[in-house]
Amino acid sequence: MLKITNVNKVFNAGTVNEKIALRNVNLHVKKGEFITVIGSNGAGKSTMMNMISGGLTPDNGSIQIDGKDVTRLAEHQRAGLIGRVFQDPMAGTAPNMTIEENLAIALGRGKRRTLGFGVNNQKREQFREQLKQLDQGLENRLKTKVGFLSGGQRQALSLLMATFTEPKILLLDEHTAALDPKRAQLIVDLTEKIVERYKLTTIMVTHNMEQALNMGNRLLMLHDGGIILDIPDEKKRTMKPQDLLRAFETARGGESFSEDRFLLT
Ligand SMILES: Nc1ncnc2c1ncn2[C@@H]1O[C@H](COP(=O)(O)OP(=O)(O)O)[C@@H](O)[C@H]1O
Ligand SMILES: [Mg+2]
Repeated sequence: MLKITNVNKVFNAGTVNEKIALRNVNLHVKKGEFITVIGSNGAGKSTMMNMISGGLTPDNGSIQIDGKDVTRLAEHQRAGLIGRVFQDPMAGTAPNMTIEENLAIALGRGKRRTLGFGVNNQKREQFREQLKQLDQGLENRLKTKVGFLSGGQRQALSLLMATFTEPKILLLDEHTAALDPKRAQLIVDLTEKIVERYKLTTIMVTHNMEQALNMGNRLLMLHDGGIILDIPDEKKRTMKPQDLLRAFETARGGESFSEDRFLLT
């Protein structure tokens, strides 16, 4: 479903601020895989996600989605293939538009706009059904502006908007990190439910090791722009956060993992 081949990305090349964000990254993702990604701050996780979504272009190498070379396609040209939820609850939705207007826009993502973003009764019924599965009572608030929703509700809505068109790839970039633990758990549960329901090929960045071990069926660790661990499901199931730290040390030849932001539980 996704093939990243020899991708490199350097920011501010040739200046004092030069930063190698990705070093020769190779990744093959099979249809239906649910990958969790961990790595310290600045490891290149978001850069990798941006390469896949088209927000950034690799310096070299290629990216294929579902057999199609998208390396040089702009973000809007591949939007129909990708669903995305960001860390910031404000980022995924338009606050001054109503819930139903936001959903209508999401429904039109990647399509020609000739049909417009209108909301008719048929769509409205469809939206109500979709919103019910969020268990937030949003199905009764179609005409509420999204700006009035809580962070958790906005993330739930973002998740629905990113997935109900059944994208080829779902990208989740620390999408629970800005929420309190209870709401974060709600979004985690919802994520698992939706991914399972549509059998979505998913890449989820998290800074929570427990989450990375408990969710999905493959785990990647990025460090200094490279994938240093790629752990299959069977192995992942037997691991605890301490085992992950040990695996990091082994991969890095004794270097120990130090990152305040990294959560063990
Ligand atoms: N637009 C940019 N311009 C310059 N440097 C950037 C830019 N985006 C990311 N970087 C740098 O690239 C590295 C990887 O960043 P990022 O992918 O955001 O890391 P992560 O998501 O793993 O925390 C960091 O050192 C970051 O400072
Ligand atoms: Mg990031």
